[in-house]
Formats: sequence, structure tokens, C-alpha cells
Amino acid sequence: MAKKVELPAGFRWGVSTASYQIEGAVEEDGRGRSVWDAFVERPGAVKDGHTGRVACDHYHRYGEDVALMRELGLDGYRFSIAWPRVQPGGSGAVNAAGLDFYERLVDSLLEAGITPLPTLFHWDLPQALEDEGGWLARDTAYRFAEYVSAVLGRLGDRVPAWITLNEPFVHMVYGYAMGIHAPGRALMLDALPAAHHQLLGHGLAASVLREHGREVLIANNLTPVQAASEAEADVVAAEAYDALHNRLFTDPLLLGRYPDLSAFGVELDGVVRDGDLKLISGPGLDGLGVNYYNPTRISAPTDPGLPFSDVRIEGAPRTAFDWPVVPDGLRELLVGLRERYGAALPPVTITENGCSVADEVAPDGTVDDRFRIDYLAGHLDAVAHAVAEGVDVRGYYTWSLLDNFEWAEGFNQRFGLVHVDFETQRRTPKASYAWYRDLIAAHRAL
Ligand code: BGC
Repeated sequence: MAKKVELPAGFRWGVSTASYQIEGAVEEDGRGRSVWDAFVERPGAVKDGHTGRVACDHYHRYGEDVALMRELGLDGYRFSIAWPRVQPGGSGAVNAAGLDFYERLVDSLLEAGITPLPTLFHWDLPQALEDEGGWLARDTAYRFAEYVSAVLGRLGDRVPAWITLNEPFVHMVYGYAMGIHAPGRALMLDALPAAHHQLLGHGLAASVLREHGREVLIANNLTPVQAASEAEADVVAAEAYDALHNRLFTDPLLLGRYPDLSAFGVELDGVVRDGDLKLISGPGLDGLGVNYYNPTRISAPTDPGLPFSDVRIEGAPRTAFDWPVVPDGLRELLVGLRERYGAALPPVTITENGCSVADEVAPDGTVDDRFRIDYLAGHLDAVAHAVAEGVDVRGYYTWSLLDNFEWAEGFNQRFGLVHVDFETQRRTPKASYAWYRDLIAAHRAL
């Protein structure tokens, strides 16, 4: 990538977080129990027995966090709304105090000149709904739309664009197929209905958002899938993995049909009802949220059971999480989406991208996370190249504002632009924070 490319004028800059990862205050102001509150109590489920009970205490410290965002000069802030704060039992009675919190947050963002971009579901399902089958139950999609109506009734007038779901793929695979995230079910391919019901929930919620005249986005975890070799068996395996990870979600949303899953020996026929796909693809998305971390390399299966094997990507730097750093994978992904979906691809926003680093506060009070700066700079360059190749990318929200509760890893993986001392809740902006602030200011001055 020799040529210097720029991002377009009007490009939107943001940061991302999620409710259970930062809020804490899990028993406050009438919040109900979520699947994550239950999951963290399982011995061994989360590293070092960490929980999100306090997390970054953002519920009480949101003012300080909004001030940090104002200082960054952000256009937008992507956060998520905890369903169990709004409907503690997952359906029926709405908890006004839960909505009050999000109203306070939204109003302070607006006052700081930052546009809120809320995600309506980032994995913290009310436990009461999990007890009824969670996302394996079709009814959960209808409950989701009811909850979305309650949120829109309060905040719909002030928030122009909404993300329905975060990463339905990761939630299905980690939560329902492998059991390494809440709700901790290990159903392997029997988890597939959780994909369809989440998408149905998206479609129903999209109708509610449209009734309120709001823009509809969804954030998917997408990965460019590379075959380990040109051998036909590897190529076929890579196609199967691509269908599961990417197309299972983007095809119904953008084309109104499911991809061929025959390599997995499963069908969604019994789960998909007449009219569902029409609802899911609906009048279309206003934007596709893309969460990108790394590419995936796939070979023919080495074990029976699944039609592919994951192959380690060699030769790339690795994050503290041991994820390979391949910035060009983001360009490849974006250009690939445009090639696959053509005019059906709506404008894209990068709704997550970032890396974990074993950051420490030095004795002089600074956090030198050069690794993160290089990571972010490389990926923004990849976005600029995708734009130069004709992909309509409107914004970039880095993951994450704060070090936070990284799911099954607890507090052991730090993704923030701001370091958090989880003993004292002290926030320390890292070198990447100043770098991002200056980058945003320089871009605006172009
Ligand atoms: C999720 C975030 C998570 C991040 C890093 C994404 O899959 O949406 O909640 O913290 O990746 O693992």
C-alpha cells in the first residue's frame, strides 16, 4: 500500500462500548437479572472469577466518561442498552428508572455534541426470557420488538439512528453452540435457530424503528475467509465457513434468502416461516455495521463433525489475545462485500475495530500503547483504501473507549483508549487516546 489515501470529508469518528461490559450497578434501580449475571456465577466460566457487577462503574461515572469523549472530539458514541434495565422480566412491565439512566446518558451526549448510536441488544438477554428458551425460542423475537417499542417511546425523538443487534453470529456460536459465553449452551449445530430468531427480532425491531422514522443498522462480526491452499478441499471448506460466519447473516438481510448450508447437513426449513425473510430484509438497512478484528484461514476438516478446520495465520503480529493483526483483511472484507452484494450493500460503518494490549500505567502516569496506535492506523489506512476502491464507508467506531469486562476473559484483555484501574476506577487516557484525538482534529481541518 504505497499511495497515501484519505478518508472522505464528513467521515464520522466514534468509539464503542456495551452495557454489561462497562455499566456495573447490576442490582440498581430495578434492573433485572441477565444471562450474564447468571453465567458469571458458574465456577470456571470467566477467567479469575471476574464479573460485571461493578465493571467500569459507568452507571455512576458516565459524566466523567462523556467528558472523556467530548475531549476526543467524537462525532458519535456507540453504546448498548441493557434490556433487563428496561424490562426486568423480559416482557410486560417497563422500569422507568432504567430508561431514566439512558435518558441522562443520551442528553449528556447531545449536550457534548456527540450523536448517540445505541445498540438495542449486546448479549445481555433478561434471564427470564432465557428460562423460556432464549433466542432458541421464536417468541423472544416478538418480546424484543416490544422492548424496542418501550425504548423508542422514551428516546426515539432524540436519537436518529439505531443498531438492532450486536454480532448475532458470535452470540449464536459462543453463547448457544459452544457455551463459552452466556447463556452457556453447548448445542453445536442445534444452535442455528438462534441465528434465525435473532434476525427475525431484527426485522420486527426494524419495523418499530421505521414507524418512529428512525434509521436502522445492524452490527455484524464479519471476517474475510481465506482458503489455506488452492486445493479444492480447502476452497470448499472455506466456502462453507464463509456461509456460516458471514453469509448466514448478510444474505437474509441484504438478499432476503439464506445461503446454502448443506455442507453442515442442516437446514433452517423447519424454523423459517412464511414472511420471515421478507421481514428480515424489509425495506432495507440504512447502514451495515461491520465489526472487524482479523481474517480467518480455513482448511479441509482435520476432525469429523464440522466441514472445516481453522488454521493459524502465521507471520502476522499478534495482539495480547493472540489474534493476528492483518489490517489489509479489512480492505479485503469491505471490497468483498461490495463485490458480493453490489447495489444491495448499504453504506457501511465500522462499528468495532481495535485490539487488546497488556497495558500498564508507567510510574510517570502515562500508558504507552504504541502497538494499539499502529493497529488503529493500519486499519484506518485499510478503510481509506477500500473507500478509494469504491466502497461507501461512512464512519469508524473503535473498540473501545475504556478497558472493560471482556466476557469470558474477565478484565484480562484491555481494549480501551483509556486505561481503567479496576480497584480504584481511575481512568488514565493512553497514548492512543491522544493520537485518536489529534487524528480526528487533523481530519476535520482537511
Ligand atoms: C464484541 C465486543 C468484544 C469485542 C472484543 C466483539 O466481538 O462485540 O463486545 O468486547 O469483540 O472481543
